[in-house]
Amino acid sequence: MSQPAADALPVTYRHAKTLSPSGAPPTDAPAWIQAVDNPYLHGLYAPTTREVTTGPLPVEGELPRDLFGAYFRNGPNSAYAPINRYHWFDGDGMVHGIWFENGEARYANRWVGTRGRLAEQDKGDTIWGGVLGPFDFSLPGGPLKDTANTDVITLNGKLYALWYESGKLYELDPNTLDTLGVEAFEGNLKRRVSAHSKTCPHTGDFVYFSYGDRPPYMRYGVVGAGGRFHQVDITLPGPRRPHDIGVTPNHSVLHDFPMFFDPELFKATGKRIPVFHREVPTRFGVIPRWGCDADVRWFEFEPCYMLHVVNCWEEGDTVVMIGCRTDDPTLRPDRRDGRIAAMLSGIKLQARLYRWTMNLATGETTEAPLDDLNAEFPMVHDGKLGVKNRYSYHQIIPYEIPAAFHGIARYDLETGAATTVSYGEGVFGSESPFAPAADAGPDSAEDDGYLVTFVTDRSDWSSACWVYRADDIARGPVAKVGLPIRVPAGFHATWMPGAELV
Ligand SMILES: [Fe+2]
Repeated sequence: MSQPAADALPVTYRHAKTLSPSGAPPTDAPAWIQAVDNPYLHGLYAPTTREVTTGPLPVEGELPRDLFGAYFRNGPNSAYAPINRYHWFDGDGMVHGIWFENGEARYANRWVGTRGRLAEQDKGDTIWGGVLGPFDFSLPGGPLKDTANTDVITLNGKLYALWYESGKLYELDPNTLDTLGVEAFEGNLKRRVSAHSKTCPHTGDFVYFSYGDRPPYMRYGVVGAGGRFHQVDITLPGPRRPHDIGVTPNHSVLHDFPMFFDPELFKATGKRIPVFHREVPTRFGVIPRWGCDADVRWFEFEPCYMLHVVNCWEEGDTVVMIGCRTDDPTLRPDRRDGRIAAMLSGIKLQARLYRWTMNLATGETTEAPLDDLNAEFPMVHDGKLGVKNRYSYHQIIPYEIPAAFHGIARYDLETGAATTVSYGEGVFGSESPFAPAADAGPDSAEDDGYLVTFVTDRSDWSSACWVYRADDIARGPVAKVGLPIRVPAGFHATWMPGAELV
């Protein structure tokens, strides 16, 4: 694809070209973004306008016959021009899916049919502003739209999209990605659910949490495999921004990080300005699976922040948590590069593999870093969630290019060794879940399977789906599937085994 001369581009594209992983404008981006001087709507972040469904796709290499199932990835994808300062986190959720069977692959993508998305579709324009404010508290559901743009999870053969600020549990058809409705577990679920709520593979329990600006600042709940429903309020010192939850077969691990906004300032001005309080400890609360607020055992650690847990497990009386720890989550806008660079710096990530332990009998704690590579968006074998696992698969994040994944790091958690592979210059990937080989059994190796990712090449804005052997990522992709449309940068992904797709 030919590139327009730099001086022929609108000013935003020129900024984006030098200060973000963007190049010339993607030709399939909506026309309205050319008038919006905001880096979160250009280049790698530019929304796509099309919803498509394909038949078999072209394959370079050979798709393994034992790759059977579907890869789904969620992410922000605005449909209309913003009405205030747009942030990448504000876009409407769009889920991209690719289905593999018998050495073939097909693709589809759909916006999540959230209530906010449908209301704006009816109006033909944006109604809600974004996280950078100003906030209109008179809008239905509050000043922020529940976009369901963050996470995509599976539960008992069902597929759900979730929002990081806690929202509805939107159910999607796992074969078409059409939105089916809001899951309420037979009317029991009356509260919001955060992204990264998850299913324990050993008990079948769906473990969820939510958080908010007003008391109770956290809620914790469980929907048992047999339908038993449990929800309790969790006492926190104030509004917090936990992003994930740890799960073992018997416990859950709640997060209380010392990065929070001043509730008095929020009450007076409506402004939520997060501050990292270096004098306040990090706290992790271990709660029995069906426990209540009084049962939570809180453990203190060095101040930090963390988006994503790699895994948790039990070793006797000790609960172990491995995660991607951020030493200092304070945003560091580099104003020397101008306003756009300062805005983009707000989504920079700097996280390292880290281990915490909490002994429920003695109260003893330990914590230590495991590696120094900046890597995030960790994935493990779904069957290993909650028990000791050996391998995890992370996205490598160059600090200078925010939220753009440029390779995979495979960790051997027993030895601490990392194997890394790059997607290549100007090629950016997506979170890469582990897809077990369809014929893998309980005695199969933990890494007998594949890693699946969407990549987008900024040289021509083409997108593809790449498949790696999980036990040999250094070999490079064993197959590359051409996609019919560009896939913008996004958030979380999951794998649904073919047996669940009936
Ligand atoms: Fe996340």
